[in-house]
Amino acid sequence: MIDVKNIVRGFKTPESRWARFGPYYAMFPVEFAFDVIKKYSKEGDFIIDPFAGRCSSIYAGGVLGRHSLGIEINPVGWLYGTVKLEPASKDEVVDRLMEIYSKRNYYKRAVERMPKFYRMCYCDEVLKFLLVARQHLDWKNNSIDATLMSILLVYLHGKLGEGMSNQMRMTKSMGINYSVNWWKKNKLTSPPEINPVEFVMKKLDWRYKKGKPKVFDSNVILGDSTIELKKIVRKSQETDVKYSLLFTSPPYCSVTDYYADQWLRLWLLGGSEVPVSNPGKHKGRFTNKKDYYNLLDSVFGNCALLMDEESTIYVRTDKREYTFNTTLEILQKHFPNHKAKISKKPFKKKTQTEIHGNSSKEMGEIDIIMRK
Ligand SMILES: C[S@@+](CC[C@H](N)C(=O)[O-])C[C@H]1O[C@@H](n2cnc3c(N)ncnc32)[C@H](O)[C@@H]1O
Repeated sequence: MIDVKNIVRGFKTPESRWARFGPYYAMFPVEFAFDVIKKYSKEGDFIIDPFAGRCSSIYAGGVLGRHSLGIEINPVGWLYGTVKLEPASKDEVVDRLMEIYSKRNYYKRAVERMPKFYRMCYCDEVLKFLLVARQHLDWKNNSIDATLMSILLVYLHGKLGEGMSNQMRMTKSMGINYSVNWWKKNKLTSPPEINPVEFVMKKLDWRYKKGKPKVFDSNVILGDSTIELKKIVRKSQETDVKYSLLFTSPPYCSVTDYYADQWLRLWLLGGSEVPVSNPGKHKGRFTNKKDYYNLLDSVFGNCALLMDEESTIYVRTDKREYTFNTTLEILQKHFPNHKAKISKKPFKKKTQTEIHGNSSKEMGEIDIIMRK
């Protein structure tokens, strides 16, 4: 029997070493994810998270022996999730690291052509290595490449000494001009000299020190829930599978742009060299209230078709009026026989926004818990 205390505190087990894998904005605290899974489901149950982020819900479900299924539209969150559910073996990742590193000298010229931001952010040795990784790692289809790429994503930027970059935030990529001006003002115009192989090897040693996590039948799909859920509903009608816990946290209306906030990591995955906002439906800041309503209506409507009659619906959302009222209204529409309980701090631990240092009064999360 897994002792959850060992997972959420300390790093003595493989499950605890991988539990917090992947910095992501508005992520569930790991202990909260385990508490909810433990309280509202049992071993062998099916659980679903249609806005999975870095997949703490799915990971907690899998570690605790539940069949767990997530959907995430942002490749950064998806990659963290899919890798922590089943990382490739360390030896394979190390071999691939050496292969990628060995190609770096073909990229000398490419480095010279990179915009000033990148030259100030990374030393040449790191930047050459990142350019090879960006071009050669098949992170969508190959699990070894996905594992190596996800490790690079985690440490792509952070405080000096913690990541491969010049001084940056870890959860969120700052803007190009903002960063360049900030480095100049703080006399940090030269990036730290880092040997990327030594750096990544240290991170791999730490992460794999206790081995790979044991995760029961769990999976996360890279895609749009409004599309993917329809396929899942069709399949569940054939197999008769019913889910007993819907555990999720939708994007908050007008708050976060998960694409712009992760632009540098998305660049490493092959995206644009400069921050881009709103590249498609469901990927921007959700400023259009009608689109926001339709997203939640479609997702929770399809989830309702998957859930068992006795299921629990656990949704963590933003306290602010529009997001909260819309979410509650849509949930009540699709789960008319469930009773909603609203809870500000059911597990008496720090909320996602508090953890990120945001203490503004109207900010914060609120939990909607629905049962029959
Ligand atoms: C509040 S975050 C979830 C954070 C998550 N609970 C965690 O612990 O990391 C909401 C997530 O929904 C994702 N998302 C937004 N629209 C989506 C859609 N149509 N399909 C799938 N995921 C979507 C965003 O990319 C974001 O990662």
